[in-house]
Amino acid sequence: MSHTIPSSADAPIGVFDSGVGGLSVLRHIHAQLPHEHLLYFADSAYAPYGAKTDEWLVQRALDVAAFLIRHGAKALVVACNTATVAAIKAVRTAYPALPVVGVEPGLKPGAAATRNGTVGVLATASTLRGEKFLALREQISGATGTRFLLQPCGGLVERIEQGDLSGEATAAMLDGFVTPLLEQGADTLVLGCTHYPFVREAIAKLVAARGDGAAITLIDTGDAVARQLARLLEGAGLLRPGGTPAHLRGYTSGNAAALQTAFAALLGLHPQVESVQV
Ligand code: DGL
Repeated sequence: MSHTIPSSADAPIGVFDSGVGGLSVLRHIHAQLPHEHLLYFADSAYAPYGAKTDEWLVQRALDVAAFLIRHGAKALVVACNTATVAAIKAVRTAYPALPVVGVEPGLKPGAAATRNGTVGVLATASTLRGEKFLALREQISGATGTRFLLQPCGGLVERIEQGDLSGEATAAMLDGFVTPLLEQGADTLVLGCTHYPFVREAIAKLVAARGDGAAITLIDTGDAVARQLARLLEGAGLLRPGGTPAHLRGYTSGNAAALQTAFAALLGLHPQVESVQV
């Protein structure tokens, strides 16, 4: 099924994730494209996405995309690795004329950054078993000889959704995921889920406590995603020139107050947030 979308440069950009993780991408979009109106949808009633089936993720991504487009989105950012791997193809097929940007674990920047050829990839279980991800790994390791160690991080998204970025339980969980990668020689860690940049400091602290701090590189692709979005909008003649101030609105399938708190705590932003049924 394909749809015609009336696009105007003044229309907003729709960004979505299973919860607050996509805010780590939104902050780069907000910084790089300050004139753009932004709609953020947190699918908190259904988080985490990491344990869902591909069929479910495809249907959900199509439903959320339809919601954002009904609210006028001129472009979509799937600010979730799990949904990108499972469903971005279906979203692009449904809306062939719409600029759609996804997020994938930064294997290419990881391969470029490693000095010893060993890169740890932290992501959800669904991302790491997705065909799109496995094909990317094959391609990058074939081209560069990089060894990728895959580490599913079950439970970590839930801790971040609860706002526990640096408590003991989160630190212990991170230790269990990160230490084995370091012990196997990884000198670069890819943050392959958009929630994980919010525990970047906790990871850096853990690495530093082992005495490895300076030698370990952490990779996050939020900045590159915002640049890709800017390129696509520019190419389509859809960059908003400015003028009246840009607005930011939040929507959630969960609790509006919780998303408002997350916006304030994670980004220092105070948008209007509405709880909606999608
Ligand atoms: N932030 C997400 C990702 O990048 C989703 C994680 C989840 O809900 O399990 O994969």
